Amino acid sequence: MPVFYDEQTKTFFLEGKNLSYVFGINAAGFPEHYYFGSRIGRDDLRYALGVGGNSAEACVPGMTDSGRNSYNNYGAEISSYGSGDYHECSLQILFPNGCRLNEFRYHSHRILEKKPGIPGMPSLQGGTTLLLTVKDKNSEVYVDLYYTVYEDIAVLCRHMEVHNRTGKTISLLRAYSFTLELPRNDYDVLTLEGAWADERTPQRIPMHHGVVSIDSKTGSSSARLNPFMAVLDRNTDEYNGNAIGLNLVYSGSYVLKAEVGSKGSARIMGGINDFDFQWQLCDGETFATPEVVMVYSDCGLNAMSRTFHDAYRRYLINPRFVMKHRPVVINNWEATYFNFDNERLMGIIDVVKGSGIDTFVLDDGWFGARAADNAGLGDWIVNTEKLKGGLHTVIEYCHQSGMKFGLWFEPEMVNPDSNLYRAHPDWAIHMPGMEPALSRNQMVLDITRTEVRDYIVESVSKILRENDIDYVKWDFNRVLTENYSIALPPERQQEFHHRYALGLYDLCERLVNGFPSVFFEGCAGGGARFDPAMLHYFPQIWTSDDTDAYMRTRIQYGTSYCYPLSSMSCHTSICPNHQTGRTTPFTTRADIAHLGATGYELDTTKMTKEEVAEVADQIRAYHEMEDLILDGELFRLEDPHVSNYFAVAVVSRDKTEAHITAFRTLCYPNDEVKRIYPRGLCEETRYFIRELGITLSGATIMKMGLLLPNTTTDFKTFVFHLKKEDSVH
Ligand code: GLA
Repeated sequence: MPVFYDEQTKTFFLEGKNLSYVFGINAAGFPEHYYFGSRIGRDDLRYALGVGGNSAEACVPGMTDSGRNSYNNYGAEISSYGSGDYHECSLQILFPNGCRLNEFRYHSHRILEKKPGIPGMPSLQGGTTLLLTVKDKNSEVYVDLYYTVYEDIAVLCRHMEVHNRTGKTISLLRAYSFTLELPRNDYDVLTLEGAWADERTPQRIPMHHGVVSIDSKTGSSSARLNPFMAVLDRNTDEYNGNAIGLNLVYSGSYVLKAEVGSKGSARIMGGINDFDFQWQLCDGETFATPEVVMVYSDCGLNAMSRTFHDAYRRYLINPRFVMKHRPVVINNWEATYFNFDNERLMGIIDVVKGSGIDTFVLDDGWFGARAADNAGLGDWIVNTEKLKGGLHTVIEYCHQSGMKFGLWFEPEMVNPDSNLYRAHPDWAIHMPGMEPALSRNQMVLDITRTEVRDYIVESVSKILRENDIDYVKWDFNRVLTENYSIALPPERQQEFHHRYALGLYDLCERLVNGFPSVFFEGCAGGGARFDPAMLHYFPQIWTSDDTDAYMRTRIQYGTSYCYPLSSMSCHTSICPNHQTGRTTPFTTRADIAHLGATGYELDTTKMTKEEVAEVADQIRAYHEMEDLILDGELFRLEDPHVSNYFAVAVVSRDKTEAHITAFRTLCYPNDEVKRIYPRGLCEETRYFIRELGITLSGATIMKMGLLLPNTTTDFKTFVFHLKKEDSVH
């Protein structure tokens, strides 16, 4: 049984693959954290709890000055504010009489064989769940703490739900998803920072006395800082040491914090950002927080990442698509931008017809008065001046050419110059009487409002119903400003960002589930909303608007800390690259794009004959390795953020096959001899290496390494296919 309760010691043991998470109910009736790490015995762990400070601490009300008697000395599962715990707390309530104190004590618990969903929000499925209910000592506020463990992955999922049974409305000033107490104070914190076209760069800093905090205030998970934090031992690296990875299943404004206090321990917490947040919870209502996925690894960052990948592929991403062959697209955005008509699109299709590209995706510009980015958003009606005969002409042409058809939408947005805005100016987020801040000439629709969501669902559905569409790219090109809804009363305005996230999930539920055979890809001005909640709806997400192969090695490397290769949408584009001006070999661009859900995004009519011929070979090669991209295990070998090289190995689960891609950024004359050292192979298995024409044991390949030949080309890739000898025909 993965969840075990020892009545005698009042201790809960949560046991997932390779992990134990242990807490107990202490003398004060408070759930106190004991342990999180690799598997230990079901022992009485209280012997190891320090007495803590014996002076200058406030005693738990009702307890006297001896022994372990202060909230400030307890490792918290939920931190009570107001009675002597001076760490960051995970819940703060404002009662109608002005009181902000709470003291949550054990009330009851249940073990659930089926993991319940979280109302209004996506979450992982499966596992065994402990539901621990705590109650405020002084009021009828109950909090359910959910803990889920899995027998096949080293993951603990947590979230909490607050129930108000006080008979009055209370205000939640802060409602995080979790508190995690760690026993030391000498950890590092790893996060993923970024910007448009430069998403998810790893940054690692020592934790220090005080609080290390990352957040988003944008109304989206954002490109600035992914909702991810890893807590590492100082000596943890890619393949050694302890790592705890935390990833919020949330697409809105969030916060993650790591605090070192004066007691030698660290407290980690996070969830919905409490900056500009306050939630009115009426009597009888429940407030649910988003889920945090906690991964434990004692073999470094790589094992942490592989666990995230398995968790998302098995329990989060839509099972209808997660392991299915992905569409190999030709997208017209970098080819035409807004400037196209049927003939231009057909020309692009003609060149790659029969190459293996199986889906044509018509990007921005097909609707309303959309000649540039300053008009038309919100008017999901085909622009028949550009597309004579409507979408049918180009869809028909795709089908005749053996391709499926995909279409771009940006459902949450509106241009002031649009019929939608002229009809409903109040539907755009704005603060009455103040000039709104435009971004890319557009405003965000107030999807906290039902009528706005109904319009979006109906207008997008109409296009999907009336046309044969297999694929949708759902974009989100700006973040929120003027955080205000004219439909909310003043005391609820600070609910706005979270209500936006809930509105987004409602839209996704209705559209994605409403059209179950349509494949939805996520996008946000590149990869600015690349988070687990979006992955629940969109099996893949456009990783970045930066399609430069070198930049992609960096971005895809950082993204792989949490997200599986199959979730990263990656395209081969034209050179000089539109974002960096850099020229890289065509083969390199495809080799790097193939480390994800591959596709193309260029004006095929401008390709050379050789390049066109190469596309067919590239796609053949991709199909050969696609099962590895969908289901393989990723081993990062060289980090382009710190090295002149990038290298990864993707190994099949049964270890009979592997694909290795290496990349040299710049070539140097008289360069060092460079070998990469693959990982994850079976030592005893003999692998045929196609590119070298030799067979070697896994042990030899991993220990002797593979030599990267010197070349006189910058940005050069080296690809190796390994197949178990007796499976090579
Ligand atoms: C965003 C996307 C691009 C493209 C444009 C269209 O920037 O990331 O791929 O769809 O919008 O406007």
